[in-house]
Amino acid sequence: MPAPHMPIERGPRIGTNLLRQSRTQFKKSRVCLTRSSLIWFLLAQLLAWSTFAAAADTQHEQIVAEKVESLVARMTLTEKIGQLNLISQGEPVEEQLASVRAGRVGAMLNVVDPAIIDRYREAASQSRLKIPLLFGLDAVDVFRIAFPPPIAWAATFRPELAEAASRSVAGETAAIGVNWTFAPMVDISRDPRWGRVVEGAGEDPYLGSVMAAARVRGYLAGGLMPTAKHFVGYGAGESGRDYNGALIPTSDLYDRYLPPFQAAFNAGAQTVMGALNAINGVPATANAFLMYRVLRRDMGFKGFVTSDYNAIGELINHGLAADLAAASRLALKAGIDLDMEGYGYDRHLAAELAASRVTQIQIDHAVARILTVKFNMGLFDEWSRKTAPPEAETRKIARQIARESFVLLKNDNTVLPIATGVKTIALIGDAAKTDFDESWYGPAGLTQPATQTLYDAMKERLAPGQSIVYEPAFADRCGKSLADDAAAVRAAERADVIVLIVTEDCEFSGEGTSRANLDLSTAQQTVLDRLSATGKPLVLVVTAGRPLTLTAAAAKAQAILYAWLPRTEGRAALAEILTGEVNPSGKLPMSLPRSVGQIPISYDVLPTSRPPTESRYTSRYLDENVTPLYPFGFGLSYTTFEYTKLRPQSVVLDLAGSMFIDVDVTNTGSRSGQEVVQLYVRRPVASRSRPIRELKGFQKIALRPGETRTVRFDLHGRALAFHDDEGKRVEEPGPVQIFVGGSSQATLSADLVMK
Ligand code: BGC
Repeated sequence: MPAPHMPIERGPRIGTNLLRQSRTQFKKSRVCLTRSSLIWFLLAQLLAWSTFAAAADTQHEQIVAEKVESLVARMTLTEKIGQLNLISQGEPVEEQLASVRAGRVGAMLNVVDPAIIDRYREAASQSRLKIPLLFGLDAVDVFRIAFPPPIAWAATFRPELAEAASRSVAGETAAIGVNWTFAPMVDISRDPRWGRVVEGAGEDPYLGSVMAAARVRGYLAGGLMPTAKHFVGYGAGESGRDYNGALIPTSDLYDRYLPPFQAAFNAGAQTVMGALNAINGVPATANAFLMYRVLRRDMGFKGFVTSDYNAIGELINHGLAADLAAASRLALKAGIDLDMEGYGYDRHLAAELAASRVTQIQIDHAVARILTVKFNMGLFDEWSRKTAPPEAETRKIARQIARESFVLLKNDNTVLPIATGVKTIALIGDAAKTDFDESWYGPAGLTQPATQTLYDAMKERLAPGQSIVYEPAFADRCGKSLADDAAAVRAAERADVIVLIVTEDCEFSGEGTSRANLDLSTAQQTVLDRLSATGKPLVLVVTAGRPLTLTAAAAKAQAILYAWLPRTEGRAALAEILTGEVNPSGKLPMSLPRSVGQIPISYDVLPTSRPPTESRYTSRYLDENVTPLYPFGFGLSYTTFEYTKLRPQSVVLDLAGSMFIDVDVTNTGSRSGQEVVQLYVRRPVASRSRPIRELKGFQKIALRPGETRTVRFDLHGRALAFHDDEGKRVEEPGPVQIFVGGSSQATLSADLVMK
């Protein structure tokens, strides 16, 4: 698996005339600028010049650049500003269609009726220059078939599954005429209070990068242009509150938050979405440093930047602009090319230009970047409707993701899988009879696809002589209040094993769902406590879009299966795992904290001057352990694995070279199973403190009982580089420790020296 890297690529050549124009415009407009904006303007212009001056890398780029230049030259100001305008479908449609015909709209979002999409497309083809529209949608993990969410894709540690899922979702969505997705979300987060961790790959930049690239490949293959979002630091919002500002040191920005974006760009994402929040005091939507120096100069991004929903208008709330005109000016100058649902560019850019507060070249650049992507996407070519992938194939992928994403956190006395000798299973929890997916997103006229309930899926799999007793226990599917919990206890008393399913479904995760308390609900914990008091073996199935704090739950349940949000195919997959038809193989993409007070929490922390011990004056809590309840990378199987013979190819790792690292993994149990073999590194002595562990490779392998496989990693010296306070890459010699095992607490280790 290639390590993510951040090459500085050359930008596309947009055209020499535009370059000339740019210089003239710059001369004309500079007198009107304040000193600080002049600095940013200069920086922006310089970067734009270098972009123009760079020779086109390929013939394709050259051809596109010429087409873009000739088109921009023919556009009126209204048409140019129209290309920067992204609006939702609204009423009356007729009025919007007229705007499209007048060239005042460049892109639409959230149109999910194919017939209406056709009308907008038709309207665009009737506009003077016939510039096609982008149709954007949050086609993330659900269109018709609801897949488990991306956090679960990460838990599979199988990028090929994430790619297949993205391809399927994109395929279903592209079939209605949508051509652009606001996914993947590649925000790194160590804060499960933030509800949007469900959309990403968790806490680790390496896993995040691998998954980002896989998802981009998948969305592209399915027919949608992906958007890497939210640039950048949206997942680091203070106190886990959605939209909150983030404080991120530059070194951290480069080491931790940018790599998944870079991986997405390298895989072909040509659009990026600015974050809604502020980073280090400057909202991303007005952050020229981020959009020019970081994104375009350092990361070589060549596509266009869209604002997030109404983000330009929200610059007023951020305290950066007094009105929408000023907000629009700031955003354009900062490099935000497309205004999503803010109407700021549409309403104010012409007047801003007339008053010389923005320049023609700033507008032209934004237009050129958007048109370049439209050409690259083939939107100007003849359009034909795509066919959705066959439902059976899509369901198969959804089932496989579910199977491989569930994480077995605890399995005392081998309660799971439920033995065939077990006579009666008490299945408790309203969610066991649920087949509804809140997240379902199909277009009007389509019904939600048939979904099997856990109860039905379990019934299908009962061994001869086995039976199930079901009790809802909760008055609602989401476990907010109790129903007849006494009946649940009676059912449990009659059973040989109890399976309690609790859920954080019901839109408890996702955008705008920050939580300050991550425990099970009071009703859920009450039922769990009462069931546990029966003394019967108790299996807890947690379905959630983020890590919850399960300390109290873990004290009561003998087994815990973390099933994320299983959705269309996932309840059947749950039954497969509970009954042992499938062996669990998911691993945690985020640490599960013991309590909210430990958050933010991640495995790759920096060392402290006083590592925690029993002694008071060390880095510890008086009232809580410092370790998570379950660490990153952790997950049990119904079999066991042993790691032996860690064999780095040499003790010397070349700064510019690479080496193989071999390790033997043996299935020491009695069932076939899959294991995620993980490689971590540490730099114990370096010019700045480095994390105590960093994931640098993983491979998921299948082993039969008794089978041994040699797993080989290819560790590159450059993967151990890091960044300084200016964002400069540091590649330096020094000692390196490697660890290999089945979680971030792997113990098998070897010492190397980087030279
Ligand atoms: C979200 C984006 C999303 C957009 C459009 C915003 O509120 O932050 O992630 O793509 O809405 O639906």
